[in-house]
Amino acid sequence: MATMFLMVGLPGAGKTTRARQLAQAHRAVRLTPDEWMIPLFGLLEADGKRDVLEGRLLRVGLEALAGGADVVVDFGCWSRDERSAIRWLARSAGAGCRVVYLPVDRTTQLARIAHRQATAPDETLPMDETEVLLWRERFEEPDAGELAGDEIDGPPAGWAGWPEWAGARWPSFA
Ligand SMILES: Nc1ncnc2c1ncn2[C@@H]1O[C@H](COP(=O)(O)OP(=O)(O)O)[C@@H](O)[C@H]1O
Ligand SMILES: [Mg+2]
Repeated sequence: MATMFLMVGLPGAGKTTRARQLAQAHRAVRLTPDEWMIPLFGLLEADGKRDVLEGRLLRVGLEALAGGADVVVDFGCWSRDERSAIRWLARSAGAGCRVVYLPVDRTTQLARIAHRQATAPDETLPMDETEVLLWRERFEEPDAGELAGDEIDGPPAGWAGWPEWAGARWPSFA
């Protein structure tokens, strides 16, 4: 059975570093939207284009899983709903899903962001400290059930299923 590794964590947590290691160890396809957004737009978010990009990358990932390859989804996935949707989609492609959560305290996070800016300026964009601290409030930590791969929640009220929810969250997915 193919495996999807779902990276979860804030900017600077070390997701892409770990994603590269996992991709090498498992000969997996790694999907890192930052590596597309920066060359294409010079931005991490540009008018909803990141959502469009992520929807297409998700499709590529599901096709790779269905073809038997392991996949590393390096989106960040701050919300539980995003994670539930992607876990459900991986399962429906006949694959397993492992949530890889990298917690990071605020001091370490700021130090790693600064380190990356200094050592790999082409792979990142300057981040404002106030904004980084606001992001910490918005991030929904995965719980033990998600990390253990427990049963996946249903979609929020009003949604027929996770595919429909995913088509709204990532417009190019539908
Ligand atoms: N486990 C670690 N210990 C120390 N530094 C790390 C670790 N993981 C990543 N880093 C460094 O922290 C910075 C951010 O890592 P990165 O993987 O780009 O984070 P993310 O993809 O979560 O934003 C990089 O400079 C990276 O080299
Ligand atoms: Mg990254």
